[in-house]
Amino acid sequence: MNESIEAIQSEALVQIMAARDERSLEDARVAVLGKKGSLTGIASGIKDVPQENKAAFGQLLNAARAAITAALEEKQVTLRDLTDRAALAGIDVTLPPRTVMAGALHPLTLIRDEAIGILRRMGFALADGPEIEDEFHCFDALNTPADHPARNEKDTFYFHSGKLLRTHTSSVQIRTMESQSPPVRIIAPGSAYRRDEIDATHLSVFNQLEGLYVDDDVSLPDLKGTLEYFLRELFGTATDVRFRPHFFPFTEPSFEIDVQLQIKGQSPRWIEVAGCGMVDPAVFEAICQSRKDRIFDPEKVTGFAFGMGLDRLAMIRWGIKDIRLLIENDARFLRQFS
Ligand code: DAH
Repeated sequence: MNESIEAIQSEALVQIMAARDERSLEDARVAVLGKKGSLTGIASGIKDVPQENKAAFGQLLNAARAAITAALEEKQVTLRDLTDRAALAGIDVTLPPRTVMAGALHPLTLIRDEAIGILRRMGFALADGPEIEDEFHCFDALNTPADHPARNEKDTFYFHSGKLLRTHTSSVQIRTMESQSPPVRIIAPGSAYRRDEIDATHLSVFNQLEGLYVDDDVSLPDLKGTLEYFLRELFGTATDVRFRPHFFPFTEPSFEIDVQLQIKGQSPRWIEVAGCGMVDPAVFEAICQSRKDRIFDPEKVTGFAFGMGLDRLAMIRWGIKDIRLLIENDARFLRQFS
């Protein structure tokens, strides 16, 4: 019996060594260790071994099984390695990898997200409105009379229906007050459209960010504090900000806001960045009529509004000289923001 164990072991080891692939290796395993395998057969004969030899027989059997199993495992590793090598034949794994081109956010997206981030931290919520607007939301409710130049067909894209492509995001002020109750504190980034001649500083589609804050006690100092803080967050804490009296139909008083920019090698310059003002009571009155209630009664509420051009902010931030670069998708320009 003992000799046959040794014979089975050496025969199995020869078979294992000779196996050329995983399949023949498995055959070799089954032939010796399988249910009907040679070693399994011998092992079942242990019952016939005399008591005094049982222990030695068992030890021999276990040693044979361990040796065969170890040989099987080792051969399997060798065979897998061969398979892997074969699969890689013809592939040069030492070649450097192709570089992956990382995408980047567009400067307009960057400046918009940054502006939204600052204003949201100050408690402004995002609001939205349609780009195809009616004259009521774009003009009438914003106290803009029928003879105002913005309403002229020369300046604005009209549809045959009488609707138009909104000329500013200020229409979202009206939409928001029609559907929400005070206090209202919103910002509305979005596209605006004008029949402008396209040049280095004008596009017929551009991007604005509107803001509106209405409550029972909103004052001019609130407006100044909010926008000064905003612009200093955006352009740096040392930025000088000035409010210059101006006229907008929907605010009274109204201002244009300038920031002073220190460009290297040039003397400091004031650059206009936004329009703003205290919401005109006539706008609240239009809201009351449209809503058919007095929640926005100009005797009860006050508010401030502001609007700025995001394209312009991006141009100032990065010293972009031509607004058309923002829409031309020239990779040489865009790559600078990655
Ligand atoms: N809508 C104005 C424009 O497009 C910008 C503006 C000025 C918005 C004053 C405002 C504001 O909300 O209060 O030129």
